[in-house]
Amino acid sequence: MTHATPSPPALKRHLLDLSGLSRSDLDHIFDLAQALRDADPLRDASSLCGTAVALLFYESSTRTRVSFELAATRLGAHTVNLDLDTSSARKGESIRDTALTLEAMGVRILVVRHGSTGLHGWLAPALQRAALVNAGDGAGNHPTQGLLDCLTIRDEFGAIDGLRIAVMGDILHSRVARSQITALKTLGAKVTLCGPSSMVPEQLAEAYGATIVRRPEDALRNADVISLLRIQLERQSQPLFPSLAEYRRLYGLSARRLAYAPPHAIVLHPGPANRGVEIDDEVLGDPRCKVSKQVGNGVAVRMAILSTLAGGERHV
Ligand code: NCD
Repeated sequence: MTHATPSPPALKRHLLDLSGLSRSDLDHIFDLAQALRDADPLRDASSLCGTAVALLFYESSTRTRVSFELAATRLGAHTVNLDLDTSSARKGESIRDTALTLEAMGVRILVVRHGSTGLHGWLAPALQRAALVNAGDGAGNHPTQGLLDCLTIRDEFGAIDGLRIAVMGDILHSRVARSQITALKTLGAKVTLCGPSSMVPEQLAEAYGATIVRRPEDALRNADVISLLRIQLERQSQPLFPSLAEYRRLYGLSARRLAYAPPHAIVLHPGPANRGVEIDDEVLGDPRCKVSKQVGNGVAVRMAILSTLAGGERHV
């Protein structure tokens, strides 16, 4: 079947964060991701034929970079993986000049990860034609991760409206948390934040329109979804906890602690996980832990985003 899917208005040009997307925009992305996930790859690999997609990862990545590359390839695009060790970035070229150079060569979509929070907001207006996708900016946003998390929840429960989501861990430094919670709130979920005050300060409750609880057992008891976050040691200018062992004892998700959650509850983690800190091996191996589903949905969601930003007809 071939049919045209209208572009969600908020996704006309770039994907920088999820704040401007309505519930119907999000549903549209999930429907398209689902259709692309279920499509025949041999028959449907052509909607980005002739399109060049550049991947610029100034911060390390496994899942996000590889899944963008797989998504682009599966849609028939050419991918350019900029090797920052051998590119002009080593000679001091700014990211803006690198992006404009790639755009001048005909790159249509730039997928950029960078350690500077907010970088994409000033890079986007410099581009004349190319679309910019934020693949993670410092402690800012990580929109495609938020989308794939929500798609995974929708797959499990059918709908997100009214679900109770416990987001646990280093929320203050997490770009995943910002994007995930933004989408979850738009979709009507009830979000509870859990962690020590150094990682989950009171001000976050208002900023996110969420409730804060300090004891993980209390957050788990009422959760349909437990969304764990990695402790972002590289973004903490000073230790936010006496030791990792102490964090595990008070907040880590062990099998014993997971027993406080209802039996239908699922566990998400964006990866990479600090095993034995925020999550135990036993929980990662539990069938209620949907990490592999999240990773698979990463390819589907990124296909949906790339094909929407490239515009035109999508062949599903
Ligand atoms: C996240 C990231 O890099 O922001 N990982 C990912 O994209 N899968 C989360 C993290 O590093 O904690």
